Amino acid sequence: MLTISDQFPLFKEYSADKVLTYLDSAATAQKPLSVIQAEEQYYRQSNANPNRGIYELDLRATEIHETARQKVANFIGAEFPEEIIFTQNTTEAFNLLAYSYGMPFLKEGNTILITVMEHHSNLIPWQRVAKATGAKLVYLYPDENGHFSDEELQSKICDGVKLVSVHHVSNVMGTLSPIAKITELAHQIGAVVALDSAQSIPHMPINVKELDVDFIAFSGHKMYGPMGIGVLYGKKELLEKMPPFMSGGDMIDFVSEQESTYAPLPRKFESGTRNVGAAAGLSAAIDYMQDLGYDKITAHEEELMVYAMNRLTKLPFITIYGTKNPKERFGVISFNVNEVHPHDTATILGNDEVAIRAGHHCAQPLMRFLHLTACCRLSFGVYNTTKDIDTLVESLKTVRRIMGFES
Ligand SMILES: Cc1ncc(COP(=O)(O)O)c(C=O)c1O
Repeated sequence: MLTISDQFPLFKEYSADKVLTYLDSAATAQKPLSVIQAEEQYYRQSNANPNRGIYELDLRATEIHETARQKVANFIGAEFPEEIIFTQNTTEAFNLLAYSYGMPFLKEGNTILITVMEHHSNLIPWQRVAKATGAKLVYLYPDENGHFSDEELQSKICDGVKLVSVHHVSNVMGTLSPIAKITELAHQIGAVVALDSAQSIPHMPINVKELDVDFIAFSGHKMYGPMGIGVLYGKKELLEKMPPFMSGGDMIDFVSEQESTYAPLPRKFESGTRNVGAAAGLSAAIDYMQDLGYDKITAHEEELMVYAMNRLTKLPFITIYGTKNPKERFGVISFNVNEVHPHDTATILGNDEVAIRAGHHCAQPLMRFLHLTACCRLSFGVYNTTKDIDTLVESLKTVRRIMGFES
């Protein structure tokens, strides 16, 4: 079991007299000191608007930005650094994909296939593409444990499907999608596959070559990096034929009064001033995760998941949503305290300094599918320990007591 919370300043600096039990890393992870320092150092020593000036300081900023791009490319096994497009977050990455791939390349008669488990950021953009282009938006449905049957995949990944966009790890169920099977079936019919890795990259190594997906999106802030930077990876030949998403400064080659030509990848998709400080922080986050090593991260989180599931399933007043097999869940457990509204649960836990999330988790179609309006969600990071789970469990007992139940 890792015990590294002292590498994360927030746990010391949050309060002089309160101890925080942070179980909301799926919303955003806390940042190690090295990430905070990398961003600070950029602003202290290298701040300039990249790609523009030709003086030393500007070259430094540009180099930091491009080194971060190369680091991300290496981290996820991309062949070319220009396959890495920096966005603000996963949401912007999916909007880029929807507007630069969905809008121009999909039309009536085509199908966009997603799952009912998607986060809204991998759902609303496709609704908009479907409305604008006349393409149909079709859903894959899982069983109650969050698993998709072969029959469901085979019957829905069929002629007419041009784009499949699915989660890697669900932000509610914590389950892994059958991405190898999805990719195999989709590629057989010439469809492209986009993967939402926002909830997988903090927990498991990602290799775009092995996954053979066409696009991947993730956010820096969920993988111990800063807010304000995310990534869209795309296969070069696809990105090259896509028109720009946002337009303006820096994404052009030549501009006349009526027409423009666009810069080559990746700048075609990176208009306006870039978030170099966040790129420096993301680089440091990758270094941090690589220094820890995914083998240690996964072993630690598996141990935590086994412990948490074991303790929670012993509480008779808790209902868990999705599989109770800890080996099939990554990072998150969704649950409710029976007969207690999730917001009441989260408020009472909050009074005990236990931070969890309650609500629809930006997955309203999934809530409806589970016959819920909302639920609670706890989620782990590398800094959590079994003590955090013990604190949570004691606080859940308090919830029951305060809400008037004997146990
Ligand atoms: C699975 C999944 N996809 C996408 C997102 C959106 O991430 P962001 O808000 O960083 O754009 C989230 C955020 O919680 C998520 O869990």
